[in-house]
Amino acid sequence: MLELDYTNVLEQTVNNQGIPKISFEKAANSSKHVVEAVQWAHASGKLGFGELPSDEKAVRAVTDFARSHAYPNVLLLGIGGSALGPAALDASLNRPRSGKRLVVLDNIDPDFISDSLDSISPQDTIVNVIAKSGVTAETMATFAVVRKWMIDSVGVSKARERLVFTTDPVKGDLLAIARQEGYPTFEIPPNVGGRFSVLTPVGTLPAALLDFDVEALMAGAQRGAEQARQNFFQNPALGAAFIQFVLERERGKRILVLFPYSQPLWKFAFWFKQLWGESLGKKIDRRGNEVYYGQTPTAALGVTDQHSQLQLFVEGPNDKAFLFWDVQEFRNTVPIDHPFSNFESMGYLESKTIADLFRAEKKAAEMALTEAGRPNATVTVQRINEENLGHLIMFSQYFTAYTGEFYDINAFDQPGVEYGKKLTFAMMGRSGFAEYGKKIELTRQRTRAIIR
Ligand code: PA5
Repeated sequence: MLELDYTNVLEQTVNNQGIPKISFEKAANSSKHVVEAVQWAHASGKLGFGELPSDEKAVRAVTDFARSHAYPNVLLLGIGGSALGPAALDASLNRPRSGKRLVVLDNIDPDFISDSLDSISPQDTIVNVIAKSGVTAETMATFAVVRKWMIDSVGVSKARERLVFTTDPVKGDLLAIARQEGYPTFEIPPNVGGRFSVLTPVGTLPAALLDFDVEALMAGAQRGAEQARQNFFQNPALGAAFIQFVLERERGKRILVLFPYSQPLWKFAFWFKQLWGESLGKKIDRRGNEVYYGQTPTAALGVTDQHSQLQLFVEGPNDKAFLFWDVQEFRNTVPIDHPFSNFESMGYLESKTIADLFRAEKKAAEMALTEAGRPNATVTVQRINEENLGHLIMFSQYFTAYTGEFYDINAFDQPGVEYGKKLTFAMMGRSGFAEYGKKIELTRQRTRAIIR
């Protein structure tokens, strides 16, 4: 089950900051092209993310591999779309006593790398190197460091059993290295972009190595894909896309606050930020117009941020839309038993649960925002498990793709990211990037404006 409650984006609820009900009726007809465009891209093979759940062979391959490579630690080397998804799955599904630990090296702060490697033993670790392009500077550099760390501890031939690559099936140096050294590899289908790749081996291999139920994850994703093909009022992804498009374009909500009331979904918000930001932040639309579109995604955690950012959200600039992520059932309700019922600040909690308090606080934050005319919607799943997470992932991907269609932009490229990568290569002296050298030199020569 996944549902979208959009009561608090309606004009009747948040007045002129909201959307008239009639606009939804009209959108139900006028948005058919949005679904059709994404369906066509899937059918023609241009786009692959929605088809991934039906690839049973890919699921079997990762689960078989995980069975024969059972180590307590999974060390993941990757960045952006090659790290955020598996990190989100781990944060949602792993338990403190599972006996499995995921360590993600998605930054190259040298102290972070050293401390992370110090915290695990190479003997107990399988290393998954992930890069769709197979050339990303951060990942290649970290791979070189970690390979040596592994070889120094277990030797060259055992190291070969503990390194596995996930990359493009035909191009990139990572693939060439894997072939040369005999490392096992898993493929990221070419028609699935980095930030849409969590349901490829980018996410499913670490998930299998961490003993998560990958089949259930994919079954949930399949349900999400089917829901995303329904008519407007049975299609939360399409409805959510329409809402954000209108709120951003017509109500000036240039910021989207992702607001999970679920600790396990906190890292999921970071995965979503990349999906939303890189897909929709675009200078040029499909017709070549300079548009500078995009709604800045940011995250707040319920209830923690009620005591931090909520003041700004309720009384600061009305430039934000809010998307709550809610969970109906927790694994634990945690009864509040205490002997201080004579104290007012505790007495009212008697025979309640922490889950009751959590729910009440979510409702309170939602009411405070709504009363202040801040449009907010809620996506609810029943509980956190593999199946619902798969559903939420697929919902989020279609939500993003459909929003891109409303904007009429290419939601599947990332020229801004690629440009930064090229400048890095040039700065580090990689051959073939000399054309950027002049620009870098000019930047270096610029007199710095510094206050000390
Ligand atoms: O979504 C994208 O394509 C990017 O953000 C990539 O995920 C990121 O740059 C990492 O790329 P790669 O997987 O090639 O290392």
